[in-house]
Amino acid sequence: MSEQRPVSAERRSGWFARGYERRGRKVEATDRIRRIRTRVAGGARGRVLEIGAGTGFNFPYYSDEAVVVAVEPDPEMRRLAEPRAREHGIDLRAAPAERLPLGDGEFDTVVSTGVFCSVDDPEAAIAEVHRVLRPSGELRFSEHVRGRTATRRVMQRSLDPLHCRLFKCHIGRDTMRLLGEAGFELVELENPRHADVLGVARKR
Ligand SMILES: C[S@@+](CC[C@H](N)C(=O)[O-])C[C@H]1O[C@@H](n2cnc3c(N)ncnc32)[C@H](O)[C@@H]1O
Repeated sequence: MSEQRPVSAERRSGWFARGYERRGRKVEATDRIRRIRTRVAGGARGRVLEIGAGTGFNFPYYSDEAVVVAVEPDPEMRRLAEPRAREHGIDLRAAPAERLPLGDGEFDTVVSTGVFCSVDDPEAAIAEVHRVLRPSGELRFSEHVRGRTATRRVMQRSLDPLHCRLFKCHIGRDTMRLLGEAGFELVELENPRHADVLGVARKR
């Protein structure tokens, strides 16, 4: 079998993950972040896959009835997520969203918080999420997306290189269009006029 090129997150040195965890210990207690995680992860049901789980900040929000597999390609993120995964009974694995080592239609729900803006190849990641969901399965997400206004988009384009260097995430991707093209139907969307959205998309 031919060797596949690792994604950027698989090659990271560790400083980004440790900084993410440190910052999270401060911001995770804010009402805004708690509300987002409650809506997105707290609403997940059945067999759940979380992609790009980071250090596991969503883990405490899953309901007891959800059976959760979480994937994360960055080795240091995974190391930091392991105690949370153990505490909450989550099966944590190494994998990029672009190449999920999981079967077709295995999941009722996929959770993604801040991941389609971070992956190397959003089209491939969205296609994989679509593949592993059962028919009518739900993708629950919160993401930075392309702004609705021209002014916002110009701002996003000019800030994106610096933002990406510092936070490893792109702020202006047209994720909503990519979801539609991949065969998802949007069933809920909060903040549709803003660049940070929260939503549910159903596999058609
Ligand atoms: C902004 S962090 C969000 C982490 C977590 N979802 C959360 O809400 O705290 C982005 C995450 O996406 C992960 N990531 C980056 N590239 C990825 C890829 N190709 N596949 C899956 N996850 C990836 C990063 O390692 C990081 O954990």
